[in-house]
Amino acid sequence: MTRPPGAERPRLATAASTDDLLELLQTVRRELVLRGEDFQGSWVEKAAEDLRAGRQPGWFYSPSKGTGGLAFGNVRGSRAWGHVHSTDESDSVQLSLALLDGLGSPATTVNVGFTGLTVDAERRLLSTLTARPGATVIERFCMVRTLRPGDTDAPSVPPAGLERVPARDITLAALADLDWRAFRGSVDDQLVGGDPEEYSRVLTGLLGNALGLFLDAASTALIETEPTRLIGGILTAEVSAREAVFVDIMVDPERRQKGYGRFLLRWALRALVGLGYEKVRLWVTAVNLPAVRFYEAEGFRRVATTSIYRWERPVGEPQPQRSR
Ligand SMILES: CC(C)(COP(=O)(O)OP(=O)(O)OC[C@H]1O[C@@H](n2cnc3c(N)ncnc32)[C@H](O)[C@@H]1OP(=O)(O)O)[C@@H](O)C(=O)NCCC(=O)NCCS
Repeated sequence: MTRPPGAERPRLATAASTDDLLELLQTVRRELVLRGEDFQGSWVEKAAEDLRAGRQPGWFYSPSKGTGGLAFGNVRGSRAWGHVHSTDESDSVQLSLALLDGLGSPATTVNVGFTGLTVDAERRLLSTLTARPGATVIERFCMVRTLRPGDTDAPSVPPAGLERVPARDITLAALADLDWRAFRGSVDDQLVGGDPEEYSRVLTGLLGNALGLFLDAASTALIETEPTRLIGGILTAEVSAREAVFVDIMVDPERRQKGYGRFLLRWALRALVGLGYEKVRLWVTAVNLPAVRFYEAEGFRRVATTSIYRWERPVGEPQPQRSR
């Protein structure tokens, strides 16, 4: 069922039944799982409750009246994240506009992901939405590599002058500082939030299994000892009994292109073989060409591309009042 653009607007999620919200959120989750973007699975019930209670902003089309669709988000300070799901192209436009207007009022940046549409329909939607001043599209590749018995031949002794320590032995503040310095100015940095506190928040989630069981035995850091300086790290989580995911790989910008990134990656591949995993994946932004080339050279292959729509309030545009 296709509504002409400008026809019925989506309703606030506070008006939805819990059953409708659960059905819509479960569909979103299923699509994210199929795309390899969701592997912890415990957020659906909580999101349904929060949307119903108005603690989380959301808009919906009831699945009992046509295809159904949902847009939902989160605002923290001046930054917001959202997701739009519908199999209907014009509903996706309406849901996206409701979300962007709703979140873009308190926030100065909004990042939105999509599910439900065909590749071509999603492309048309993104091109409609990028007509807004301040809008861009960020592409991310999912890359996968099969683990091989030969991966255990990788060196376990760190490069000269460095020591290897378990990632969890590094303080959260030091890891967050390294992440911040490693990604500073990059597109990833825009997505995370651009300051050590945001990295610290993300790392706390990773270490606390928010993206799947954190694999201490396949997560490590490299340090210089005199004086002590953290110069690199790789963090790994479990996707399933057979598959792992590298959730963070970073090397100090002042110590790049010395083979440290390769050492970390190969050390972690070796560790994963030892732990019995068969595959590993990672996500990388398409514009991060050094990293994409590095992963390709190490045998990773692109299996999926996802697009994140990003809107930043144009400089000089007044911020609307919260009460509007
Ligand atoms: C990606 C990263 C971890 C690589 O670390 P590194 O220690 O510099 O990497 P290495 O010296 O081991 O180099 C490994 C390969 O990466 C590629 N590479 C690294 N830097 C590169 C650059 N500036 N330009 C082109 N290729 C580059 C090369 O293929 C290189 O292999 P080669 O030396 O045989 O040519 C590092 O650049 C980094 O921390 N980047 C910021 C964080 C990030 O983007 N992480 C990945 C997110 S998914």
